[in-house]
Amino acid sequence: MATLLNTIEDAQAREICRDHGDRPQELLEILHGVQAAHGHLTDAALRTIAYSLNISRAEIHGVVSFYHDYKREKGAMQTIKICRAEACQAVGANDLIAGAERHFKTKLDEKSVAVKLEATYCLGNCALGPAIMIDEDLYGRVDLDRLKAISAAHKEQSS
Ligand code: FES
Repeated sequence: MATLLNTIEDAQAREICRDHGDRPQELLEILHGVQAAHGHLTDAALRTIAYSLNISRAEIHGVVSFYHDYKREKGAMQTIKICRAEACQAVGANDLIAGAERHFKTKLDEKSVAVKLEATYCLGNCALGPAIMIDEDLYGRVDLDRLKAISAAHKEQSS
């Protein structure tokens, strides 16, 4: 049974829900939209989404905690997806991964405090490899220096 709150605490989240027709089946897109707008998912935004979609907050929390792309805190861990499919490997993805592992002092697909490097297999940017994605933003022709700069810029944006 859905828990309803009769309040809208976050006008922007309400607007994003309305843009999606308040359809519960579009929850993932709505969460992405709200996170893109705020940099993370606030309690007020989640309550507003629950109210707008007529679903329980527990359901939303379940979804948010299942997908690690969603951030509950400002400046929370950054996930860098690095493509290691064939086309990107052919133009240096493995060197990029090795350099990123050294720079961020972590391993691919390992839990980390500040940055998580995640392997992905084709970001649809094959002609411009090596390709990476951070916070829904896609980048091509990424070398280690560019990766560091992009990562720092995203961190600054979300802080
Ligand atoms: S192979 Fe890397 S983006 Fe397609």
